[in-house]
Amino acid sequence: MPVIFEPFRIKVVEPIPLLTDEERRARLAEAGFNLFALRAEHVTFDLLTDSGASAMSAAQWAALVEGDESYAGSRSFFQLESVVRDLTGYRHLIPTHQGRAAERILFSLTVKPDSVIPSNAHFDTTRANIEVSGGTALDLVIAEGKDPAALHPFKGNIDLPRLEACCREHAGHIPLAMLTLTNNTGGGQPVSLANVRAAADIVHAHGIPLILDACRIAENGWFIRAREPGQQERSVEDIVRDLFRCADGCTFSAKKDGLVNIGGYLALNDDALAERARQLLILTEGFPTYGGMAGRDLSAMAVGIREALDHRYLEYRCATARYLAEGLNRLGIPTVQPPGGHAVYVDARALLPHIPPERFPGQALACELYLAGGIRSCEIGSAMLGRSDERGRFVPAAMELVRLALPRRVYTQSHVDRILEVAADVAARAPRLPGYRMTHAPRVLRHFTARYEPYATG
Ligand code: F0G
Repeated sequence: MPVIFEPFRIKVVEPIPLLTDEERRARLAEAGFNLFALRAEHVTFDLLTDSGASAMSAAQWAALVEGDESYAGSRSFFQLESVVRDLTGYRHLIPTHQGRAAERILFSLTVKPDSVIPSNAHFDTTRANIEVSGGTALDLVIAEGKDPAALHPFKGNIDLPRLEACCREHAGHIPLAMLTLTNNTGGGQPVSLANVRAAADIVHAHGIPLILDACRIAENGWFIRAREPGQQERSVEDIVRDLFRCADGCTFSAKKDGLVNIGGYLALNDDALAERARQLLILTEGFPTYGGMAGRDLSAMAVGIREALDHRYLEYRCATARYLAEGLNRLGIPTVQPPGGHAVYVDARALLPHIPPERFPGQALACELYLAGGIRSCEIGSAMLGRSDERGRFVPAAMELVRLALPRRVYTQSHVDRILEVAADVAARAPRLPGYRMTHAPRVLRHFTARYEPYATG
């Protein structure tokens, strides 16, 4: 097979921080063994998130300079509106500073204390915004989507019979249904076009609108083109258009497939809801033609949304995740199968069976990847999602994962090769890695600010 190479050349470079082993040991101890507490200048490969970490193109930088900073009626708004309307078909564009601001506006207008919002899988901020409004966020992903080893081309699919049953059971209490494309919490797994269509048919038959969490819809579209029967001859842009047209609106974090460092939007067909959303937008984000962004950010986003649909870019993007996952698998490091688009998820429970969940195997692996080579990753296991029951007993997370997220257009193949070299070193020492105890555990979203200490042994 021909080499799939980065479809860009580099115009602006930024040095990568390189620390000695002793320096990394000292920085991690100062950070309480929590990678969120590290300064970025002490990180060599920052795979904490793919969000807001993209490299912009020359065309986006040019658009930034062209941006119109007028308070009302900015040219940049109309530029973005025309791109979004053309792609989504939705009538109303409500620009927000990032995805969660769009979620906050949407749910505070639609969710009541007895509301139920079904989805394939809600992202944390989506769930939190539904719960803050008093509603219940339901995850109805197919069974294969919860099994790291299961091989299925669309592990992000929603379970259609369960969706139908949910619509019947909670009739009158579902203001909207959602689908997250791709499913981030389940490993960046895509949803098929057929599944989106069928889910839309089910909820529409019950008079319920469908809203997409579309932040990685370009990557989802690429997987549809690659894997779904009958889609191979189509452009991703066409497929994405179809996806949007199954639904009645979307929330969008442009920090992912918008290829910008900040930005997002809410787009809707419902005129009355959009009117109320605009009023809330003015209260908390800004005037309707800039929302939560500068004019220049709107322009850069308009360009980024289109660039993210380019086939050569998407081919390289998804090939990078596959290259990293296959490299890890060859080293005996198990990952969620098949690899998704934006990240590779390592199964830390399988790699470190000697560390029980209450000693946080994912945290142990994340710390070791930093100590061995300055890689910053993100634990998605019992440190983030574990809890205590009413008797104070530890309840582990369903999986102990470590996410290696790939910022867009930032790292090259030799960076990935170095990451694999570091991973090989860690894998060779896996049986001897220590578990961790949490010495400071904040009550809410504890993984961001918790502190840890290693045990003397596993
Ligand atoms: N929906 C999904 C599926 C996401 O992954 C995120 C953010 C959001 C919504 C919220 O968007 O950050 O712009 O407010 N995910 C980031 C991550 C934080 O690291 O996966 P936001």
